[in-house]
Amino acid sequence: MERNLSLCIVLALLVPFSTLSLVNAEVTDISTDKQALLALKARISHDPSNLLANNWSTTTSVCSWTGITCAGRHHRVTALNISNLALTGTLPPQLGNLSFLAMLVIKNNSFYGSFPEELAHLHRLKYLSFGFNRLSGGLPENIFYNLPNLEFFSLPFNMLQGRLPSALSKCKKLQILSLSFNYFTGVIPKEIRILTQLKRLLLNNNKLQGMI
Ligand SMILES: *[C@@H]1O[C@H](CO)[C@@H](O)[C@H](O)[C@H]1NC(C)=O
Ligand SMILES: *[C@@H]1O[C@H](CO)[C@@H](O)[C@H](O)[C@H]1NC(C)=O
Ligand SMILES: *[C@@H]1O[C@H](CO)[C@@H](O)[C@H](O)[C@H]1NC(C)=O
Ligand SMILES: *[C@@H]1O[C@H](CO)[C@@H](O)[C@H](O)[C@H]1NC(C)=O
Repeated sequence: MERNLSLCIVLALLVPFSTLSLVNAEVTDISTDKQALLALKARISHDPSNLLANNWSTTTSVCSWTGITCAGRHHRVTALNISNLALTGTLPPQLGNLSFLAMLVIKNNSFYGSFPEELAHLHRLKYLSFGFNRLSGGLPENIFYNLPNLEFFSLPFNMLQGRLPSALSKCKKLQILSLSFNYFTGVIPKEIRILTQLKRLLLNNNKLQGMI
């Protein structure tokens, strides 16, 4: 009886922890990357050269797809560059599953809709280039807490609005920050001053106030 009871206590203590570690140890692999890229492909409503339609084929390896670079010990997707393709579409939350991504370039297309909050999971991300699209809505404050490697963050010529998150200052390695030609409002967060690596700060053509 006593033994059963202590077994119960041990189980009661163990079960929640083991469930927790299962949740944390969410296994991702190249097929996770493939699902994420196919989710992106599915969100593209106009692809004038049919490039993704023909090239991003489920029967070939994602690492051979145009605009995709794989690298590292695990041979995972480390770069996605689909700039200048005149694509129209939205960005799926699954992009946040590309957990080895260091470079994300969708510059000069017609991507619209919001900036996916799930990009907050890309803690290896160094380079993000979303300029010359039609993205709208705000920059979610919480995306900046977990991007310690971000060096280049460029979103000029979109339709983004709202305040600039002060959490941008959590990206300590930031060197280039370009948010020109959007509809940002409010005061420029004074926390930006603590970004000692910053080489270029472009905020012109918004409705921002204050000094740097
Ligand atoms: C996709 O494009 C790459 C070059 O960008 C090429 O090497 C590959 O063979 C193409 N794949 C298909 C299925 O067309
Ligand atoms: C992305 O791809 C385009 C077209 O291939 C190329 O011109 C550009 O330099 C690439 N951008 C980056 C940051 O590698
Ligand atoms: C944008 O891409 C188009 C091709 O889709 C190209 O003709 C144009 O020069 C590019 N513009 C910029 C600013 O890179
Ligand atoms: C990928 O991301 C989506 C949305 O963020 C999530 O629902 C899904 O479970 C993820 N898939 C994998 C295989 O990690």
